[in-house]
Amino acid sequence: MEVKEDMEERENSSVVLGGEESFEESLRPSTLDDFIGQSRLKENLAVFISAARARGEALDHVLFYGPPGLGKTTLAHIISNELGSHINVTSGPAVDKAGDLAAILTNVETKDVLFIDEIHRLSPIIEEMLYPAMEDYHIDIIIGQGPSARTVRLEIQKFTLVGATTRAGLLTSPLRDRFGVILRFDFYSPEEIGTIIKRSARILDVEVSEDGAMEIAGRSRGTPRIANRLLRRVRDYAEVKANGVVTQEVASHALTMLEIDEKGFDKMDRRILLTIIDTFNGGPVGVDAIASALHEERDAIEDLYEPFLIQEGFINRTPRGRIATAKAYEHLNRPYDEKLQQKLF
Ligand SMILES: Nc1ncnc2c1ncn2[C@@H]1O[C@H](COP(=O)(O)OP(=O)(O)OP(=O)(O)O)[C@@H](O)[C@H]1O
Ligand SMILES: [Mg+2]
Repeated sequence: MEVKEDMEERENSSVVLGGEESFEESLRPSTLDDFIGQSRLKENLAVFISAARARGEALDHVLFYGPPGLGKTTLAHIISNELGSHINVTSGPAVDKAGDLAAILTNVETKDVLFIDEIHRLSPIIEEMLYPAMEDYHIDIIIGQGPSARTVRLEIQKFTLVGATTRAGLLTSPLRDRFGVILRFDFYSPEEIGTIIKRSARILDVEVSEDGAMEIAGRSRGTPRIANRLLRRVRDYAEVKANGVVTQEVASHALTMLEIDEKGFDKMDRRILLTIIDTFNGGPVGVDAIASALHEERDAIEDLYEPFLIQEGFINRTPRGRIATAKAYEHLNRPYDEKLQQKLF
């Protein structure tokens, strides 16, 4: 069925990605207890899950939003685990025909989880088909063409839709309104990331000291996916240069070699800041202008880089565009002219 196809697809793509996805897979926690951090979100979810279980009903539809790599997909799998049901994984751009969605929905069993990643990218037709499915558990499909066309109503099982998006703002309000539970993922604290790194190190059989884990954690931009990737890179370095043990010194050397600075910014983060400061006099400047100056996709800047730079106070978002803050100037050793900046505000 669908699930199996998805897994095969993923296996194939992991070959292309050099094992990055199967690596992620192996580090994915599978129970709520194993899932570190996001405590408020987790508490909420635990209550809803046990209530649904006690009533013997399907869990209300859940929408996750937040920057990439914070655990949305992971938690969707955990939900189905905790419910003891199946999960069917797909994504907004992947369901492009009404028939695709009809096939998926008519195959779901009671209490199953249907996970739609990048749900903001569903086409309007598919989205509209989803409304009655979410609300009353039926779909209307059109059979035939022209004057003989007729609508057939199909009942479907009471399932749980888990949607994930990096940008809740791009969701239409009719779709957003049909989710009973809407939960936001925040960046993790360095301590939480440290715990995640130690857990991953155990699974990967890497020896890492407490301060080694914290060194990586401090440079992981509050993001488990980045933390796990850096751990893997640092492990490679440690194997070659330091008998495989990840100490603070080893981690620090390795990360410096990878051009990840002490704030966790990589080359791209720094290029974004430098572009705002040097090319656009500190801003305000629109994301499109930044993107074209860097020959980057606007989406990559808005989804991948900007959220952490904003959260850490290096960029301010204003109605007239992005502004580099004094902190950014200082971090990049650029003189900050307060008077000039104030004139611009
Ligand atoms: N709370 C957590 N505890 C431990 N590991 C985590 C946690 N959250 C995420 N991870 C790890 O980080 C990796 C990325 O998580 P995941 O794929 O769920 O992110 P995502 O939010 O779905 O990202 P995207 O928006 O790009 O789809 C996973 O491999 C998982 O191992
Ligand atoms: Mg995901």
